[in-house]
Amino acid sequence: MKFEIAQSWALASLATSVLAAPQKRSAWSTLLGQLDYYAQWSTAAYCSGNTDGANKVVSCSAGNCPDVQAANTALLNAALLNEFDNTNSYGDASGFLAADNTNQHIVLSFRGSRTFSNWIADISTALIPSSLCSGCQVHQGFWDDYQTVASTLNTQIDSAQKAYPGYALVVTGHSLGGALAMLCGTGLHNQGYTLTTYTYGQLRVGNLALAKYITNVDTQWRVTHTDDTVPKLPSMTAGFSHSSPEYWITSGNNVTVTTSDIQVITGIDSTAGNAGTTTSSTSAHNWYLLYIDGCT
Ligand SMILES: *[C@@H]1O[C@H](CO)[C@@H](O)[C@H](O)[C@H]1NC(C)=O
Repeated sequence: MKFEIAQSWALASLATSVLAAPQKRSAWSTLLGQLDYYAQWSTAAYCSGNTDGANKVVSCSAGNCPDVQAANTALLNAALLNEFDNTNSYGDASGFLAADNTNQHIVLSFRGSRTFSNWIADISTALIPSSLCSGCQVHQGFWDDYQTVASTLNTQIDSAQKAYPGYALVVTGHSLGGALAMLCGTGLHNQGYTLTTYTYGQLRVGNLALAKYITNVDTQWRVTHTDDTVPKLPSMTAGFSHSSPEYWITSGNNVTVTTSDIQVITGIDSTAGNAGTTTSSTSAHNWYLLYIDGCT
């Protein structure tokens, strides 16, 4: 179970990893290091130059992805998701595909909306049937967003895997980008890809059957923070569920997160973590080990 893996990382700093990376960063010997590194990849999707074709390597103008900048990276198709801007229901989701030569990873990073506070209040709760699994329903808007780029993404990932044989595939994102990453990661898994997905402040993406299915896929890392309002949406009363486990960061905004600040919450729709908090904060949504949308 993921819970045991996470616990062993946290407690014993074992070098064991779900990532098939021959050259692991030493930080990956801890759960914290792994979650931090992919928070930085998620943040990079908000930073100009990475999603518009301007940059050749991944960089963050706000200085909030230092470990990614220190790695040897190559943007593979920065304009990959540009069309997203025109077609999706929630404004301006985007993303990029890159190679991380230091860690031998191909990384697909989805950007959330830069203006989440504008649309989050009016978020749709429409669920539609999905072929992801038996009985599964997905959030219509998120699914439509992903579908606009799904086949292009497959082509890009296939050519990246030919160009970088043996590299492990990682999909990541924050907020709406996290929702897209989770749907994309599950879709790619169903198509036979081996990958790992990291989401931060991810919205709920579908119904209970989908949450159960994602839980059993077992290569997804869903991170939440204190009383962040976004992972509480769309609501459980509207028929939405979250997969298990949840990696719940319990320390405040703009502080250095330590291993003991991360609680592993197991159980689909558990209220022992973010979902059970009685207050809701939008500023908590900005802080996921770093100022995750600091480039906006
Ligand atoms: C975070 O805290 C530091 C030190 O107190 C401060 O200088 C910085 O402006 C804060 N960052 C944000 C985005 O609030």
